[in-house]
Amino acid sequence: MAKVKSKWICQECGYESAGYLGKCPECGSWGSFVEEVQFSTKPQQVSAHDEFINTEKPTLLKDIKFDEEIRVSTNISEFDRILGGGFVQGSLVLIAGDPGIGKSTILLQTSGELCKNNKKVLYVSAEESASQLKLRAERLSINSDNLYVYPQTSMENIKTQIDEISPDFVVIDSIQAIYSQNVASSAGSVSQIRECTNLLMHIAKTKNITVVVIGHVTKEGNIAGPKVLEHMVDTVIYFEGDKYKSYRMLRSMKNRFGNTSEVGIFEMSEGGLKCVTNPNELFLNERSQGSIPGTAIVVANEGTRPLLVEIQALVGTTPYPSPRRVTNGVDTSRVLQILAVLEKRVGLNLSKQDVYVNVMGGLDVTEPSADLGIALAVATCARDVVVDSQTVIIGEIGLSGEIHPVNNIEKRLNEAVMSGFKKAIIPFSNSVPKDFDKLEIIKVKRLIDAISACVNSSKV
Ligand code: TYD
Ligand code: MG
Repeated sequence: MAKVKSKWICQECGYESAGYLGKCPECGSWGSFVEEVQFSTKPQQVSAHDEFINTEKPTLLKDIKFDEEIRVSTNISEFDRILGGGFVQGSLVLIAGDPGIGKSTILLQTSGELCKNNKKVLYVSAEESASQLKLRAERLSINSDNLYVYPQTSMENIKTQIDEISPDFVVIDSIQAIYSQNVASSAGSVSQIRECTNLLMHIAKTKNITVVVIGHVTKEGNIAGPKVLEHMVDTVIYFEGDKYKSYRMLRSMKNRFGNTSEVGIFEMSEGGLKCVTNPNELFLNERSQGSIPGTAIVVANEGTRPLLVEIQALVGTTPYPSPRRVTNGVDTSRVLQILAVLEKRVGLNLSKQDVYVNVMGGLDVTEPSADLGIALAVATCARDVVVDSQTVIIGEIGLSGEIHPVNNIEKRLNEAVMSGFKKAIIPFSNSVPKDFDKLEIIKVKRLIDAISACVNSSKV
């Protein structure tokens, strides 16, 4: 008979302990331990002889034949972009995001498109009933003979149906809602997620079925369940965006078969998610009209695509003993560093000033090439001058106030030209082709030169 074993597992990080602990020694969270009962069955005895026969022999690298990966396009251009050209057959993909962001919508749309390509899809809906799904499919105008919908929460039943139907694609909506009989704890617990993902991985690899798993995120924005979930799957995709605005972003965080940190941009409409082919229009749409002190346009690379975004800064005298620094869409410590450089190398006194920095359009800008734009937004607001609204700003700032070169400068400048900009402030050491005359280029060595360039042009 199976032996019953009980463990206490931290629901935040998956740390296991024999007894209850108030604080997790691994991740430091309090009150996160839950008792989980596991049935451990003895592993089947394998004789040394059997093992010897079953083991594959190592192959010389030069003798391995190169099979081209089979990629299946989703017919959704932005989704293909982050997957690196489509789903790799037999891979396990995790899509994570806040509730209501559109995970079920995109996967139902993708399922519909895959069916059009004569693929058989099994959509396991562990959270919604078949009629709810039908309603959504009507809205998205999905009508297919190859799409199976299966409202089910038991992993064992799901496996039986996969064996029976043998689909090309399986969607699990969501991993937190399904459970396996092998584990006694409730659905969504660390052991259940681990067990179910293991089984799904096994199905994907042995049957060469692509399995797409939806995962919820916790309040802190992490995927609920242990980090092992991220380690086990081939691809991790985050669904981001402002729920109160219509656009959404898919970002790949890990991809065994493609580029990471690529983003796909969508707009949520009446008929589901639509690809945004020219995102710059979308982000620059919201920009302030005319030149206003405290705004600057930067060209940030998101994956392989340059995006133009507006940085806004507000600087004002603080009523508090210590001034506030509030940021949205940029890393606060990066902004603090830029403010320190502005104080020390430019002589801008911000010690009695509150500083707010915002990235318009809800985008997170993580790239250092936005440094100069942030610094100019703050400096122009403090000095009440403007950066010309037809100018883009590109450059990374070093601690001594020097401007470091950035990569892909030509691609960024071309993007600025396409969006109708006339001028660019760029690092001195970045070289631009001699015949590049589509923009007026101002090269700067130091932060103070960039500020002078703006001050001079705003006096004109
Ligand atoms: P959903 O895919 O259910 O989110 P998740 O699975 O991530 O929880 O998306 C639900 C939201 O999307 C809901 O607020 C309604 C909106 N929506 C549209 O605006 N248009 C549509 O065509 C669909 C299907 C949903
Ligand atoms: Mg859903």
